[in-house]
Amino acid sequence: MSKLSLFRVGRTTLPILALQVVLWFPGTAAAEGLREAMTAMEASLERLTAAVFRRDLVQVEAAAAALADAPRPDLGYRLWLLGRLGEDAPRFRRYGEALTAAAEDLARKARAGQKAQLDPAYREVLDQCLGCHRAFQTHLGEDRQ
Ligand code: HEC
Repeated sequence: MSKLSLFRVGRTTLPILALQVVLWFPGTAAAEGLREAMTAMEASLERLTAAVFRRDLVQVEAAAAALADAPRPDLGYRLWLLGRLGEDAPRFRRYGEALTAAAEDLARKARAGQKAQLDPAYREVLDQCLGCHRAFQTHLGEDRQ
């Protein structure tokens, strides 16, 4: 291959490679953002579970409030997700909102000392985690390596 044709290959190949990296990167970085958010939620849920089973109202309130305030995936992820999920995006968002609402409700009940209400409110939180996973893991799980 002459110097000239190498140069030509380089001129066309490099931009294509660069474009592929650019197209691949947002999705990968975005999926990483989601995993970070999920790992934080997992830690909060573990704290919450322990507190519910111990009937530790102070800790239930703290862990539920942390879950309600848990950082959601960043804007880049959410934009990527919108494109990825298409018409399913609102359903995904509803699960996220329902999780926040359920965690806030549980924190409120703990603060009010309503021990008998803790279990159903805790279950409502759990249902949102499991519901979203059941509904969307097949959509997004292919990003799992
Ligand atoms: C709005 C939807 C939604 C909600 C609500 C949700 N998750 Fe997830 N979660 C996902 C998706 C989608 C994945 C799969 C990501 C993947 O495989 O790339 C996931 C993955 C995970 C993972 C695996 C992360 C990893 O490292 O692969 C954990 C742990 C997790 N979620 C915990 C939780 C917990 C705990 C809750 C509730 C407190 C919760 N999630 C609520 C959508 C959700």
